[in-house]
Amino acid sequence: MIAKFTNYQELSAFGADKIIQLVQQKPDAVLCLAGGDTPALTYDRVVAKAQEAGVDFSGVIFIGLDEWVGIQPATPGSCYHFLQQKIFGPLHIQKDKIYFFDAMANDLKAECNRIDLAIEQHGGLDLALVGIGMNGHIGFNEPGVDAALNAHVVELDEVTTAVGQKYFTSGAALAKGITLGMTQIMSAREVVLVASGPKKAAIIREAIQGRITNTIPASLLMAHPRVSILLDAAAAAELD
Ligand code: F6R
Repeated sequence: MIAKFTNYQELSAFGADKIIQLVQQKPDAVLCLAGGDTPALTYDRVVAKAQEAGVDFSGVIFIGLDEWVGIQPATPGSCYHFLQQKIFGPLHIQKDKIYFFDAMANDLKAECNRIDLAIEQHGGLDLALVGIGMNGHIGFNEPGVDAALNAHVVELDEVTTAVGQKYFTSGAALAKGITLGMTQIMSAREVVLVASGPKKAAIIREAIQGRITNTIPASLLMAHPRVSILLDAAAAAELD
């Protein structure tokens, strides 16, 4: 389904409700949550609602979506740091419930295998909440990605390295990423894509109304049996 909201606040409240409801129904749910600016308010709402309603997140498994290769997990701007600040810290998630790529590892292939295995051992993702890049990427599945891949290391697209600077206070050396593959995202029992703001309007139109192609990885999600695309008015502005 495609849901249009008047504003970012409403979109975020809806996204948060989805996560809360899933965890209420399935306290050991396996969640994959994106970093990036768009889901920030969703996560704040998840934390507020979990605290208000006493929702227990202690059994939830968290799988990292992606990470910038060579960036320390403690560096503000890393995906891990963001989720630690937004979700893991506030909800007191224990370390043994978090499977996140170590993007500083010498053997990144082994990291990919470790995360592939974690997903398998926990029975697959129940929900993947993803954002969309200006180039249509999902996680770090960049334009032209082999959609049959599981976790992999990727040479980042130049749009991603340029836009990615916004997460860092001083210039970061961004060249490679490590990411779940489209196979894993497409195998999630539910996918939620969030997009907000006028900068996303053109790519949202292409992803939703264009043909399904790996040159716009987000368009692949249109073939998912249970995908929700949550848009604010600005991101939905170019849809017919
Ligand atoms: C981040 C990630 C990226 C972002 C996308 C949108 O973990 O996976 O794919 O979701 O680049 O980023 P924002 O939300 O900052 O526009």
